[in-house]
Amino acid sequence: NVEAKVDSVLNLMTLEEKVGQMIQYNGSWDLTGPASETGNKQKEDRLKKGLVGSMLNVLSVEATEKAQKLNMENSRMKIPLMFGYDVIHGYKTIFPVPLAETASWDMEAAEESARIAALESVAEGVNWTFSPMIDISRDARWGRIMEGSGEDPYLTSKVAVAKVKGYQGEDLSNPKTIAATAKHFAGYGFAEGGKDYNTVNIGENELHNVILPPFKAAADAGVATFMNSFNTIDGIPATGSESLQREILKGDWDWTGFMVSDWGSIAEMIPHGFAKDKIHAAEIAVKAGSDMDMEGGAYEAGLEKLVAAGKVEEALIDDAVKRILRVKFKMGLFDDPYRYINSETKKNVPYKEHMSTARDIAKKSIVLLKNENDLLPIKTSVKKIAVIGPLADDKDTPIGNWRAQGEENSAVSVLEGLKNANLDAQITYAQGIKLGMGERSFLMPLKINKTDTTGMGEAVRNAKNAELVVMVLGEDAFQSGEGRSQAKIGLAGLQMELLKAVHKVNKNIVLVLINGRPLELSWSSENIPTIVEAWQLGSESGNAIADVLLGKYNPSGKLPVSFPRAVGQEPLYYNHKNTGRPFSAEHVTYAHYTDIENGPLYPFGYGLSYTQFDYARPELSVESIKSREKATLSVAVTNSGDRKGKEVVQLYLRDLVATTARPVKELKGFEMIELEPGETKTVEFIINEEMLKFYNASEKWEAEEGEFQLMVGGNSEDVQSVKFNFSN
Ligand code: IFM
Repeated sequence: NVEAKVDSVLNLMTLEEKVGQMIQYNGSWDLTGPASETGNKQKEDRLKKGLVGSMLNVLSVEATEKAQKLNMENSRMKIPLMFGYDVIHGYKTIFPVPLAETASWDMEAAEESARIAALESVAEGVNWTFSPMIDISRDARWGRIMEGSGEDPYLTSKVAVAKVKGYQGEDLSNPKTIAATAKHFAGYGFAEGGKDYNTVNIGENELHNVILPPFKAAADAGVATFMNSFNTIDGIPATGSESLQREILKGDWDWTGFMVSDWGSIAEMIPHGFAKDKIHAAEIAVKAGSDMDMEGGAYEAGLEKLVAAGKVEEALIDDAVKRILRVKFKMGLFDDPYRYINSETKKNVPYKEHMSTARDIAKKSIVLLKNENDLLPIKTSVKKIAVIGPLADDKDTPIGNWRAQGEENSAVSVLEGLKNANLDAQITYAQGIKLGMGERSFLMPLKINKTDTTGMGEAVRNAKNAELVVMVLGEDAFQSGEGRSQAKIGLAGLQMELLKAVHKVNKNIVLVLINGRPLELSWSSENIPTIVEAWQLGSESGNAIADVLLGKYNPSGKLPVSFPRAVGQEPLYYNHKNTGRPFSAEHVTYAHYTDIENGPLYPFGYGLSYTQFDYARPELSVESIKSREKATLSVAVTNSGDRKGKEVVQLYLRDLVATTARPVKELKGFEMIELEPGETKTVEFIINEEMLKFYNASEKWEAEEGEFQLMVGGNSEDVQSVKFNFSN
């Protein structure tokens, strides 16, 4: 059994070797050539001595093999390395960015894209991904909102489970699977002002009810590793938080995997003003339960000294190393350190099939925000289409940020997608303006074009001569992602000028948006008849968008985040508390902004179809339940339009009076149904005590007696409600 094996290895290890397992190195040095620089030489030496537990960013079978050999052939203990990488929305075949994919509300799709990403990763020797990112985020300014599943804990929890299953499969030792990481633990998405890495000030109520549930779901699903986060929460860096890591995760939840730090986050406790030097930082982190130091140098500098000085008990080191060894055993690395390093694997990866799955998932992720004047789907009678905009023929932006080995400029652009469809129509193209300029990459600041309007004239001329304009705007791939927070979330650069100039000469505009965060769209929403939220959909982006524009696929996506009327509303989320002054039509002294309408422009859960769905009154089987009893809530949904379509039926709940104020509604269930025109289906949701539980004033996860409201509908605002009672 694994535990006995772990102990037998641990018992043979020296303290130096144990500490070595707790160190993760970045592999961006030339492993295939001579390691000449001092730093690289030092890394290589440690690798040979078996003093490294894992590496990140070592890509390809050759490179992983070389590193594994240095370790296995020279070290005393011969403990295999793990190879980690940020495989966030695909390895080579790129899927929609996670926020977009969540908009499909399709958990099979979420699992399938992870399964494929795993397969493509192991083909390159990578056996561990730093994904899924399951940080709840309510702030569109935060650049990393694209990397998560949005603002809802229930939906994010479902995605977390699907992703863990997809990456890890049933058996972690299967060489077609990789170890997953639930990150960032915890609170990272609540950075003040949406500014990446910023301070997080939240209380226990928000932490337990909103932030932790997806992590608990991932832990229960058996995720192999966790990653902690850069931020402080209530003054304590998450990396140094004993309460989060040791008490909650490893204590209350009894999770047995290991915690890797974020890049340098242990040493970052120094600038946080929480540790005086690397040695002190190592002491805090190891006591708190951070098991592996990602490229931070703190454990290397401090742990052995701390044990020798009696400041850290060796038992703590043992606990961390056991966790790391346990994962390595489960991955089958002790049976075969080269299990995931095989040049034959790549030959059998069905990359072509993966592309067709990418297209399928991409089209499911598109959200139709507005469709007036019947512009969509594009009719065969339309013979002149002007495709305009800086992103219309952009083959790079749909790949998004955190693109792993997704090649630059490898996506199908919208223009290409429309051309591939072989329409019986003339298609003209004008870029109009450029958006991002110059060299662009993960670490480089992005320059936005604010002056060059050279192409504007041609765009306007094309628009004038067309029956329909497909206008493709949004964000550059490097406007969202890590370190890409923005104080403004409108259409950047000269995009609004272009849109308004085109709108002056042709009102028949289908606005297609390619972006990684909710955008501020008030003007467009008032003036443009048709808006399609196409996010960054990955490799097959343009084909998927064409499928929707041409009606080959009836859009079924629903927003996983609220879209604001103005950036000043951020953080904006549907599951807010009521306040003591929720609404007054006559006075000003209630919770609102005086200069805009209350609430989002497009709410959480919202998305249109080319058909209509009518909801009958929901019915409850019984009006009250006790512990361990259940009620059934049924709602009949009819497709009253003339096309087949899919609808995500959503269930929300409100606890009307509780020992802490509860949100006005919280998602508690959803089901996707597909209906033929005229068809009716009845969706049933089981209501039980489990669904009513929350972290309450007694600091317990439990249901409280009283009255509840259940709401059902096609988005978080458009709901019908029934009440029921719960008693113990
Ligand atoms: O996995 C990432 C993390 O999300 C942000 N910092 C760097 C890590 C490794 O690349």
